[in-house]
Amino acid sequence: MQQHNVLILDFGSQYTQLIARRVRELNIYCEIHPYNKPPKNSSDFKAVILSGSPSSVRSEDPPHPDLSEIRGKKPLLAVCYGAQYLAHFSGGLVGQSNTREYGRANLSFVKKEEVFFENISVGSQVWMSHSDTIKELPTGGLRLASTHDVENAAYKILGEDTYAIQFHPEVYHSTDGKQLLENFLVKIAGVAQTFTPDSFAESTIKDIQAKVGDDKVVLGLSGGVDSTVAAVLLHKAIGTNLHCIFVNNGLLRKNEFSDVLKQYEGMGLNVKGVDASGRFMKALAGLSDPEAKRKAIGNAFIEVFDAEANQISDAKWLAQGTIYPDVIESVSVNGGPSATIKSHHNVGGLPDFMKLKIVEPLRMIFKDEVRRVGASLGIDKELLGRHPFPGPGLAIRILGDITPEKVAILQEVDAVFINGLKTSGLYDKVWQAGAILLPVNSVGVMGDERTYEKVVALRAVESTDGMTADWVNLPYEFLQKTSNDIINKVKGVNRVVYDISSKPPATIEWE
Ligand code: XMP
Repeated sequence: MQQHNVLILDFGSQYTQLIARRVRELNIYCEIHPYNKPPKNSSDFKAVILSGSPSSVRSEDPPHPDLSEIRGKKPLLAVCYGAQYLAHFSGGLVGQSNTREYGRANLSFVKKEEVFFENISVGSQVWMSHSDTIKELPTGGLRLASTHDVENAAYKILGEDTYAIQFHPEVYHSTDGKQLLENFLVKIAGVAQTFTPDSFAESTIKDIQAKVGDDKVVLGLSGGVDSTVAAVLLHKAIGTNLHCIFVNNGLLRKNEFSDVLKQYEGMGLNVKGVDASGRFMKALAGLSDPEAKRKAIGNAFIEVFDAEANQISDAKWLAQGTIYPDVIESVSVNGGPSATIKSHHNVGGLPDFMKLKIVEPLRMIFKDEVRRVGASLGIDKELLGRHPFPGPGLAIRILGDITPEKVAILQEVDAVFINGLKTSGLYDKVWQAGAILLPVNSVGVMGDERTYEKVVALRAVESTDGMTADWVNLPYEFLQKTSNDIINKVKGVNRVVYDISSKPPATIEWE
């Protein structure tokens, strides 16, 4: 079956990734590219979407690409700033609106009979977020819909498959937004809905075979979803030429190294478990600054991994579990990530000196798609549903310096908490959970004895991508039982607190 691609030209809107997600939900493949770095194969795309932007066409240096290669030649949907820019570019007029329009509005149709509006009801709620408005339509423009405050909420250009909307169809609050995208992409542009987890897995396996041939590939497994799905895809493509390395940094969850290693072996992966706990502990000795700890772990990992990879003779490729949000971020309109809050370490970020070519089978899909691809490959549901766990592991959940004793205490506390979530049916309702060992002792009483022991914090958050998060309202009964279990079972802890901070302003991990 033929796969059609949709090109999303990004003008820097915070919602651009959401457009891609909605399009993917329609089983349509799409790619985001910055408007100023369009892909070389633009002509292969079946339709184009222009995103919104924080800019105004009236500002000094707004995004102003030449649309003449696209407009009228390919089906085009322009969203928000895209719609304004299209008007501005094509002889219309954009000016400041009298009021800044932000929030819900309702559509009234001027041309309800348009295919563009099929299955969309009168009064449909849409989400507006703009301060400019289209005062005059471009040459050939035909108004299709208005809202109370926005006369030109939707228009098309006669004689072309060119449509423009002032509102954001990609956000959840535009209730028929996905239908509208489907009307445009499927009914107007004729894009095939053939992008499914199965089709992705099948074509990716073929691509890997063509790219890698009979070469050997090295991959660092972390126990997480991304590296596991990447490994299974590669394994299906090249079998035992895939060499996986799973490093125990001594900062994993209780029994995680042996349990996950067994699971990997059961899946038929060619995996070597390397216990380097001692080396990591040494690298961390005496360090208590969060960034220093992160860097020490990152460096130790690179050394261990490099030494192991060198033992695999003739390895030519390094496979990484990079996923699409990382790729979008690194080539974004604004040129990449903003201020470094925390220097991340994960098994993906290995340095150039390894001189290996890179293969990244997941670089074009989102996290939820990775899970669905994993399911279609038959990977165990429990493994696919695992909470995210940071590369530096428990080291960034032990505040201050790290000792083997502290790691052991936190592993026990974490195990009580996580197992409790599982047995109470709460694990899958939480995006991420873990325990944090605080660098303070507090006074308690056990039996008739005074105690002076450690305090632990529990953290459970809801999120979709880790960028923002809110604490989970876990039932009091659950917290009560968990707190009792921890204090009774884990020697050295006499107090449990629950973290009720959202991100921002806090972060998910404490360090
Ligand atoms: P923060 O603490 O920045 O965490 O709110 C957001 C998400 O990222 C995870 N995290 C990491 N993952 N290497 C990783 O692979 C890291 O160094 C790292 N630091 C934080 C964190 O667990 C959460 O899911």
